[in-house]
Amino acid sequence: MDKIIILDFGSQYIQLIARRVRELGIYSEIVPFDTPIEVFEDVSIKGIVLSGGPNSVYDEFAPHISSDIFNLDIPILGICYGMQITQLLFDGIVTPSNNREYGESILRIEKDSKITKGLPTESTVWMSHGDHVDELSNQFDLLGTTPSCIAIAKHKEREIYNLQFHPEVTHSKFGTIIIKNFAIDICGIQASWNLEDYISDSIKNIQNIVGNDEVILALSGGVDSSVAAMLIHKAIGSQLTCVFVDTGLLRKNEGDKVMELYSNYFNINVFRVNAGIDFLENLKGITDPESKRKVIGNEFIKVFESFKAKHKNAKFLAQGTIYPDVIESISINGPSETIKSHHNVGGLPDELDFILLEPLRKLFKDEVRKVGLKLGIPVNMIMRHPFPGPGLGIRILGEVSKEKVIILQEADDIFISELRNQKLYDLVSQAFVVLLPVKSVGVMGDNRTYEYVAAIRSADTIDFMTATFSRLSFDFLNLVSSKIINNVKGINRVVYDITSKPPGTIEWE
Ligand code: XMP
Repeated sequence: MDKIIILDFGSQYIQLIARRVRELGIYSEIVPFDTPIEVFEDVSIKGIVLSGGPNSVYDEFAPHISSDIFNLDIPILGICYGMQITQLLFDGIVTPSNNREYGESILRIEKDSKITKGLPTESTVWMSHGDHVDELSNQFDLLGTTPSCIAIAKHKEREIYNLQFHPEVTHSKFGTIIIKNFAIDICGIQASWNLEDYISDSIKNIQNIVGNDEVILALSGGVDSSVAAMLIHKAIGSQLTCVFVDTGLLRKNEGDKVMELYSNYFNINVFRVNAGIDFLENLKGITDPESKRKVIGNEFIKVFESFKAKHKNAKFLAQGTIYPDVIESISINGPSETIKSHHNVGGLPDELDFILLEPLRKLFKDEVRKVGLKLGIPVNMIMRHPFPGPGLGIRILGEVSKEKVIILQEADDIFISELRNQKLYDLVSQAFVVLLPVKSVGVMGDNRTYEYVAAIRSADTIDFMTATFSRLSFDFLNLVSSKIINNVKGINRVVYDITSKPPGTIEWE
């Protein structure tokens, strides 16, 4: 399949570029900036994008590429850092600056060209750069400017384009047209990337790879592992066995819902392991968040290993790894500092001695969701907010107990149900209740109460890396607060978390 390759110079918008291209029905992949040049000799590569990046081209460790890439006779689009590195290689003058230009600017088209076809003379674009090009290489033509910059340029003879702004960001009003002009008109790619074909190709692939062997999959009930299970089940039916570990730290009725849908309704082999007692036993006395995460992660592995011991014939382990997980593992920024040790069903140790089957490795989250819908998973399961692997274990601050799990499940269920009732659920990115290890005094009827405080958390975010708290109305918060206090024994005070990320994180532990 024809594709566009995006060279990663560390841009915070790298995934957006790839998604914008895919939204046009064109397959795109992100590769590290230092990918060997031979890789680009693949005839299916019809275009190359050089991404932006946080560095100055003059930084000691700034990522550099060889000018050989420009001799490949493949159209190239350099965005921001990608423009500066292009100009440097063609002897343009790039000037460093200590002040980043960040925000909207007005692009003015100075000369018509294929890349700006369909754009008005003036339009808004999004800037985020330090260095800028002061003087274009004499091999380039100036096509567009902003009040402070050379904004668009093209090589006089070759299909090499430069943009100082970010067309992939929605603030660049005609950015998608620019990307479309590049991909379709300049690279000449026919739109052929679609999820129906992806599903049928994956099914054939899975059948070929697995043959008559068995596959096991740790099903969490979350979107990624569920869609992977459905896809594999479509391919190999009863050769797939899922294990659903009920940690006892799930949302109210979650275990029953997952079993009802995947086991009863879709007829997938799902074994539910009720391990709640063991998880709680091992969490006794533990209050430190990282220790809790480790205990839960280890317990999960123990359950999985004993399941595996009973399924000796299973050669394959299926996981719901998705494209952003793959990109993060190859990112030039390297794995970011561990703020929390994430645990999820994909986090199984290497020694388990399986061949990995990861049919969603090429898909972005929104594509995974669309595949899930096409495979028949109900929309309310597909559009659910994320839920962390350690579950309520990290939403009950301090020591976890059965009593606290029940209190939190009830409170959380009220909050989520009210969000759904008021049609707010799909407008916020992630919402839940946290149970604090603090009691406070209250009064109910004529009686003094001394019970737990619950915190409501609702975050709005695109990528979960940064977030703001949802601006839920006071009336709505009042409704949720009184419903919780009136109905959940054990909570007599509700507070709303108004912390952004950073400095806060979305989960409290
Ligand atoms: P934080 O709290 O780091 O969370 O702002 C960002 C997103 O990650 C989810 N999260 C987890 N997901 N295993 C997961 O599968 C984990 O251990 C875990 N910890 C946090 C969190 O719910 C939010 O969506």
